[in-house]
Amino acid sequence: MFTRFRRLRKNENIRSLVRENHVRKEDLIYPLFARYGKNFREEVASMPGVFQLSVDELLKELEGVTAKGIQAIMLFGIPQTKDSIGSDALDSHGIIAHALGAIKANFPDLYVVTDLCFCEYTDHGHCGILDSCGCVVNDATLEILAQQAVIHARAGADMIAPSGMMDGTIAVLREALDIAGFEDIPLMSYSTKFASSYYGPFRDVAESAPSHGDRRGYQMDPANGNEAIRESLEDEMQGADILMVKPAFVYLDIVRAIKERSSLPLCVYNVSGEYAMLKLAGKAGLIDYEKVLMETMVSFKRAGADLIITYHAQEVCDLLDRS
Ligand code: PBG
Ligand code: ZN
Repeated sequence: MFTRFRRLRKNENIRSLVRENHVRKEDLIYPLFARYGKNFREEVASMPGVFQLSVDELLKELEGVTAKGIQAIMLFGIPQTKDSIGSDALDSHGIIAHALGAIKANFPDLYVVTDLCFCEYTDHGHCGILDSCGCVVNDATLEILAQQAVIHARAGADMIAPSGMMDGTIAVLREALDIAGFEDIPLMSYSTKFASSYYGPFRDVAESAPSHGDRRGYQMDPANGNEAIRESLEDEMQGADILMVKPAFVYLDIVRAIKERSSLPLCVYNVSGEYAMLKLAGKAGLIDYEKVLMETMVSFKRAGADLIITYHAQEVCDLLDRS
């Protein structure tokens, strides 16, 4: 006696009847990078298909994005000038507020998540305020993160996603938002974020590479699985509405482990280096790009992710339309 698995694999009808996981347009969050200026649209060399966009160009891009059926985006800002405390992020007329205003005026139904961090805004490229030794000071950074969050909320953010890995972020942001009258804005925590070399291309597009050192003092050690679970459960306890694991490819064991321990919605961030690897292998003709892409997306769902932040979102929509 043995099982004939192939009975349920005979043709697409039966395969789709027994398929366990599905990728849907509704699962996707598409990251976009806003900057100052006009008619500015520059492709990132390390991420073909990803652009820095001035706000007018961003609005044009959103015509296509929304037409494809993407209903949520993740907004990053690239300021004109950077300084030691990331002043543009603390300005209620800074790049994020400016972009949000324009997006909400033109696409009121689009769900806009804002990435909340200082590394794009500081001249040293670290995710917060530095002490005299060049280390990021946790609690002083929490104070400016709270100010930044209220600015995003006032400018119309639907959801705020703190990515800086400061301890206590969720508790502090929840309180600040509630006091300011934004108790209905959810927090999606970058709750388990590793100090990963897969972020390289992002730092080109966001111009946010640290000028000295690295982020291992606040982001997680890739070797740690137990701590990865504790990080996310801590943010659930502090009041996060959605948890996240980042990067995706080589951390799906962590996705599964957190899924089994928390009933919160779980997001996975398919990061820039992962995008670049598939994209360039596809361009070189080394892989069947479209098939590899969809296999990758469904692997996130199978691991336990509910939401997927991905630079591939537009292509995934096209492929879903054709399937
Ligand atoms: C900012 C931030 C980073 C990413 C998202 N938000 C970079 C970093 O931590 O250096 C990475 C995204 C990607 O690689 O696609 N803290
Ligand atoms: Zn950062």
